[in-house]
Amino acid sequence: MTSEGSEGLRRLFYPERIAVIGASATPGKIGHTLLSNVIDSGFKGDIHPINPKKGEIRGLTVLGSVLDCHEGPDIALIAVPQPFVRGVIEECGQAGVGVAVIITSGFAEVGLVQEEAELVEIARRYGMRILGPNVFGIYSAPAGVNATFGPLNVIPGNIAVISQSGALGISMMGKTVTEGIGLSAIASIGNRSDIDEVDLLEFLRDDPSTEIIFLYLEGSKRGRRLFEVAREVVKKKPILVVKSGSSARGAKAAASHTGTLAGADRIFDAAFEQAGVQRITEMEDAFNLLRTFSTQPLPSPGGTVIVTNGGGIGVIATDACERHDVPLLEDPEYLEGVFRETMPAYGSTVNPIDITGQGGEDSYEMAITKALNEDRIGGVIGLHCQSGTVDPKLLGDILLKLAKDGRGKKPMTFALIGGREVEDILDMFYEEGLPAFGDPEDAVSSIAALYRRYRDLSRPRTDLEEQDFDTTEIRRIISAARQDGRVQLLETEAKQILAELGLEVVPTRLVRTAEEAVRAANEIGYPVVAKIVSPEIIHKTDVGGVRLNLEDERELREAYTSIMHQARKMHPRAWIAGISISKMIHGGTEVILGSTTDATFGPVIMFGLGGIFVEVLKDVSFRLAPVTWNEASEMIRSIRTAPMLFGARGEKVKDLRTLTESIYLLGRLVDEVTEIAELDINPLRVMDMGEGCMVLDARITLKGPSSGGHHNTEVNV
Ligand code: COA
Repeated sequence: MTSEGSEGLRRLFYPERIAVIGASATPGKIGHTLLSNVIDSGFKGDIHPINPKKGEIRGLTVLGSVLDCHEGPDIALIAVPQPFVRGVIEECGQAGVGVAVIITSGFAEVGLVQEEAELVEIARRYGMRILGPNVFGIYSAPAGVNATFGPLNVIPGNIAVISQSGALGISMMGKTVTEGIGLSAIASIGNRSDIDEVDLLEFLRDDPSTEIIFLYLEGSKRGRRLFEVAREVVKKKPILVVKSGSSARGAKAAASHTGTLAGADRIFDAAFEQAGVQRITEMEDAFNLLRTFSTQPLPSPGGTVIVTNGGGIGVIATDACERHDVPLLEDPEYLEGVFRETMPAYGSTVNPIDITGQGGEDSYEMAITKALNEDRIGGVIGLHCQSGTVDPKLLGDILLKLAKDGRGKKPMTFALIGGREVEDILDMFYEEGLPAFGDPEDAVSSIAALYRRYRDLSRPRTDLEEQDFDTTEIRRIISAARQDGRVQLLETEAKQILAELGLEVVPTRLVRTAEEAVRAANEIGYPVVAKIVSPEIIHKTDVGGVRLNLEDERELREAYTSIMHQARKMHPRAWIAGISISKMIHGGTEVILGSTTDATFGPVIMFGLGGIFVEVLKDVSFRLAPVTWNEASEMIRSIRTAPMLFGARGEKVKDLRTLTESIYLLGRLVDEVTEIAELDINPLRVMDMGEGCMVLDARITLKGPSSGGHHNTEVNV
């Protein structure tokens, strides 16, 4: 962000002078609510209502124009009808306004794109920033101002909310109050004509009042930048995101395996994962996590203990811990030593710590206090099933006291199940904004999010190795194909590019006669594979264009004739470049590596196991390119079928080092050679450890008029 840009945002979040343009004396009008909220939230700076009618509203003198302000307002909240906005923006610029917050709707979202662009043009001329149009305003706790037309009372706290949806943002303001969640700021970004989520994230990274950032997004116009900035921000503060909205992009006909599997939403998932941003699907879960993140520390390395008075609820929570990757402390002897005296003789000290139905408030107090004071325990989940042996009021007081005392020591979440009396306890927690829930699943998933953040922060981050990478020959192959008018590279060209990249490629020759085929096979050595090579024949196997395991000259000659015959019969007008002869390779495990170009994030790469694993199970991982060595390694480990490479079922461990390097190199290639639209290495044969990987087939589509066409949906041969 430029210094001018960040200065604009500082004025947005820390205003000293606010103008409300379209301020109205009529209750119920947005211009009235805006002004009232600014006044009633106790804003200490100057407030200027602006309305050509002048007069007085709520005891303040109304100015006829923003130009009448003595000093340029930091924020001008604009709530005048759409046709007047342009003129008002011009005046705001002249008056030295910092940020024009355009509440008014009816611009790009209804098709008036040019009209909206003109507002930005005017603003730029004056060095003014625009939030909106189509926003609800901004609340800033440190500035002590609610400059929105949402609910007046917001609890000041440490969470900043950025919402693409205005209505959702306003409803969040209300809900955070009932949930006891405190906000440092909330802003909607509306049409994002100028200020967008990326600008706000960059500002909030260094905002001392904000410790957690929550983002509601439907999409991003600057996906790559969002990714880069988010990756930096999460080093300091957690970002939680609810991303909704499926895009038409996800439905586009793709030219490759990778393209077909790369739905827009999947790529968002991958980008968030890679950046270390936590994605949440349900709004309800978002509130649970916000409550947890804003009040609980990250776990220390030890496992979590569950303290419960019921076996069943303990089992439910244990299952949930397994699903959500919450490590449970498992050391029976140690746990027996710590917790035995907290329960009756028949209670269990094997995690979950079961103080039994007999266990009263004092048992909870003793067990949880011990858990909080033990260094080896990383986190605590307290569970309670309503029981006649417990005084609910007393229990509520004790649990709340424990939760408050434990704050900052280690993360602690609670789940309580029962009737009205138990719900009263939950309400007590809500009022304090502390994480207690009516479902053990929520108590576990909330603590799980803290573990995820802990793991994210402690995962080794290597930078991209800046080794030199010469693309001259690769670009030469590409421009030769372009001169031929092709965006689809021949198999041999694709393989040449990958060989240039440093991957081991199966020896392959392009031949045009049976004699040449025999000569090539003699050089390469039998058995060989013969494949038709034509940019117009995509489904090679379907036309009998592929013959495997040809053992000798006789078989090869017969295959050559048959492939040519079939191809000419099925595609009489196709240009046939020839037949490729390559070495038949046995052994190893087949994987697929690919890349595609995402409309939001640019080049992405994919990894999965070949054959049915990719086609049926769609068990693949994506990352934005380029990837670091660590990210490449995570891509391998994150698919469900990864154990197939780790020596499953008596097989030898595969060459993971070379596989990781291949993914890394592929990321470099598609990041640097931006002409590549899509690429499939299908298959890459991963040999046993130490024996490398080999590209058996590859396909590259260049960007261009016909890239992404429906006709080139080639699958594995
Ligand atoms: N400068 C200052 N005030 C002006 C003005 C100008 N150039 N032109 C008009 N006004 C005043 C009007 O006189 C009126 O004040 P009054 O009540 O004293 O007469 C006030 O601005 C508002 O104008 P009005 O015509 O009453 O419009 P409105 O209040 O019904 O609607 C908007 C205005 C901006 C609220 C409406 O056009 C709109 O966009 N609504 C949707 C907002 C929204 O949902 N945003 C997204 C939220 S997430």
